[in-house]
Amino acid sequence: MAMLDEIAKLKEEANAEIGQMNSAEAIENFRLKYLSRRGLLAQLFEKIKEVPKEEKPAVGKSLNELRAFVESEFESAKKKIENHDSQTRAMIDLTVPGRKRYVGRKHPITQTLDEIKKIFSGIGFGIADGPDIEDDYHNFEALNFPPDHPARDMQDTFFVEAGGGKLAPERSDRGYVLRTHTSGVQIRVMEQNKPPVRVIMPGRCYRNEAISARAYCMFHQVEGLYVDKNVTFGELKGTISYFAKELFGTNVKTRFRPSFFPFTEPSAEVDVNCFICGGTGCRVCKHSGWLEILGCGMVDPNLYKFVGYDEREVSGYAFGMGIERLAMLRYGIDDIRLFFDNDLRFLNQF
Ligand code: PHE
Repeated sequence: MAMLDEIAKLKEEANAEIGQMNSAEAIENFRLKYLSRRGLLAQLFEKIKEVPKEEKPAVGKSLNELRAFVESEFESAKKKIENHDSQTRAMIDLTVPGRKRYVGRKHPITQTLDEIKKIFSGIGFGIADGPDIEDDYHNFEALNFPPDHPARDMQDTFFVEAGGGKLAPERSDRGYVLRTHTSGVQIRVMEQNKPPVRVIMPGRCYRNEAISARAYCMFHQVEGLYVDKNVTFGELKGTISYFAKELFGTNVKTRFRPSFFPFTEPSAEVDVNCFICGGTGCRVCKHSGWLEILGCGMVDPNLYKFVGYDEREVSGYAFGMGIERLAMLRYGIDDIRLFFDNDLRFLNQF
């Protein structure tokens, strides 16, 4: 093709693209295509060498005109977009308050559980868990609640129908329950591990109780279990006192009161002195000066028979605490239902 035709064709092409230079990117692409060092114009200038001598002046002239045209279109498109940018910038109202980004946080129950985990993992406890839908064997029987034993009434139980073969029959022909406590996980851990075992077992529990400021149908516990040779009640006391100081502050005092659980012997309930009134008596401690925080005791040797441990070889302690209760004491919350209402005005305070 003759040079002059090529120049005319390129002019046409460039002309068609001029209208499309409406973004910084399009303008830059236009520049790269036509005006850069390896662009289409440079390529044509390169070819002038091959043009016969007598045609050179005409070709040179028209090529220079084309370059001037493309350059000036490029410059004016650039100006136009720069003006436009500064205009939109002027339209931004810097006085409008920013949009705050909402940062989520952990639920107060999770925060309290995290703290409990940290304290116990610092003194050598691992973590284990078990199912929410538990069989009668693990929730009751292997914990020394024989069938029809009145101690079962201590825990208002939700029973689950095992119909439709959906739940594995496992070792219980007496069916399934929503676990009433995490103590069944003690049995599961001992079934699966030889002594020594030293774990905490957090989890959700369920009881068929009338819902009130103090009771809810669903709540959380952390169970603890340590079984080894020669474990003593003294170690249990030391561990629990240490835990209470870590959670509530070094000034807190603990008191062990005799109690009863089918799976521990002897059993105790543990109180801390009321840090709300300092012991003088208030509504929270019901004017006793003490707040109950957990149940505990030495593992009843009878349990070892269920899991195949030799009761002459080992001894151990167990404890169980309600996380809601601990969180209520720590934060001064007076209604357990608040934890599950999902009201951000409450949750945002933690
Ligand atoms: N499982 C008992 C309860 O729910 C608490 C407990 C755990 C007591 C371990 C002793 C030992 O009340």
